Amino acid sequence: MSDTATKTKATNDIRDIRLADEGRRRTEWAERSMPVLRQLRERFTRERPLAGKRLAACLHVTTETANLAVALQAGGADVALCASNPLSTQDDVAAHLVKDHGIKVFAIKGEDHATYYEHIRAALAHRADITMDDGADLVGALHMIALNRLDDLAPPVRKWVETLSAADRKALVTGVIGSTEETTTGVIRLKAMAKDGVLQFPVIAVNDSQTKHLFDNRYGTGQSTLDGIIRATNLLIAGSTVVVAGYGWCGRGFAMRARGAGANVLVTEIDPMKALEAQMDGYRVLTMEAAAPLGDLFVTLTGNVEVIRVEHMRAMKDGAVVANSGHFNVEIDLEGLKKVAKGPVRVREFVEEFQLAGKKLFVLGEGRLINLAAAEGHPASVMDMSFANQALAAEFVVNNAKQLSKDVHRIPADLDQEIARLKLQAMGVAIDTLTSAQRKYLASWDMGT
Ligand SMILES: NC(=O)c1ccc[n+]([C@@H]2O[C@H](COP(=O)([O-])OP(=O)(O)OC[C@H]3O[C@@H](n4cnc5c(N)ncnc54)[C@H](O)[C@@H]3O)[C@@H](O)[C@H]2O)c1
Repeated sequence: MSDTATKTKATNDIRDIRLADEGRRRTEWAERSMPVLRQLRERFTRERPLAGKRLAACLHVTTETANLAVALQAGGADVALCASNPLSTQDDVAAHLVKDHGIKVFAIKGEDHATYYEHIRAALAHRADITMDDGADLVGALHMIALNRLDDLAPPVRKWVETLSAADRKALVTGVIGSTEETTTGVIRLKAMAKDGVLQFPVIAVNDSQTKHLFDNRYGTGQSTLDGIIRATNLLIAGSTVVVAGYGWCGRGFAMRARGAGANVLVTEIDPMKALEAQMDGYRVLTMEAAAPLGDLFVTLTGNVEVIRVEHMRAMKDGAVVANSGHFNVEIDLEGLKKVAKGPVRVREFVEEFQLAGKKLFVLGEGRLINLAAAEGHPASVMDMSFANQALAAEFVVNNAKQLSKDVHRIPADLDQEIARLKLQAMGVAIDTLTSAQRKYLASWDMGT
């Protein structure tokens, strides 16, 4: 654990409580762009839908997450928060939540592997009724406990679980009435668990809401990934060749923003439909093998493993820059690279140089989500909708826990629509409503020309 960390072990483990004022000011700045979450917080304050519930959240500890945590607390929840990535924590925000709201926070930017999992352990020890994940780390650990696969737990979690009685371990899992999941990668894992019949409680796939992935994944990741790359490198994007691996929601957003900044954008895909879409959107689609010698900058946004492998990196130009914005740091084969290349040498913050095949290659942010490692993650305005979904999902779990099956569920479409309606209202955008003739026409099958 960090020497500089401020520790009151049971209630927090953060960098430095003295950063709280800076965190508060930045959190208030983000809040200005989160009108939908604000309205929910105000309603939660009045109605207290989460009263008496313990909630453990494993999310990127950013200003936007701080606003969510405060809204959940306003709803009556006792909140514990740990990081969902070792590099994404904003230490001032962690300090603000501890000092000004008494929220239990376990997160330090740049924490090592052991500390990261010690913090997951601390969140598990909160013995939550509801868990909230961004990448399924909490739910994953709870399931390893439920299935008695303790060897699959990271050592700090395993050692703690081994001290618990069998009844205690069981209660950790059966105590959870439901969970929510923020991101594509987490949802894929949860659906695989449900398919295998091992899911222990209902989960709400927040990512599957339209007001989440259409905006957060596309416009949030699009802008913040470019922001992270520029902050890390200060490279000029105009006139460069950018290779985008994956043309899903995140890839579409990033390709759009890279093109907007003047890059020649190449796309790699494995799905013919997405590849066709990219081609018709005007990008050049090719294999990673063909793209490797062409790109100046490579960005993976696939949620898959080993998308950029050593054979690709060998073929890249001298000075090529490689980054990832998919959830886990598995999309670039860095382990393979380390075996065959010289390095890494840190050339500036978030930029590491490797020497391979007589050329220099630069990897950004250790292959972790570059928008959170080197920038601040998504702008608050899109997180407003994502976190409105999270807050409503927590309320939905409380209200429907008894009826929900142990499966992956979506937030009901009317709540999703309501978030879109509130967002438009906050943006001052009015839309038309159906006339009675239009409603009748749309409901009929026998009205012709
Ligand atoms: N950086 C962020 O802040 C952020 C935000 C949201 C989601 N994510 C993460 O980004 C990743 C992508 O999310 P998404 O919502 O775009 O998912 P998605 O499913 O919409 O898109 C992923 C795309 O990658 C393609 N793909 C898979 N393997 C590939 C390969 N080997 N080569 C090329 N393409 C391949 C798929 O066909 C798909 O089109 C996930 O890990 C998700 O959790 C990151």
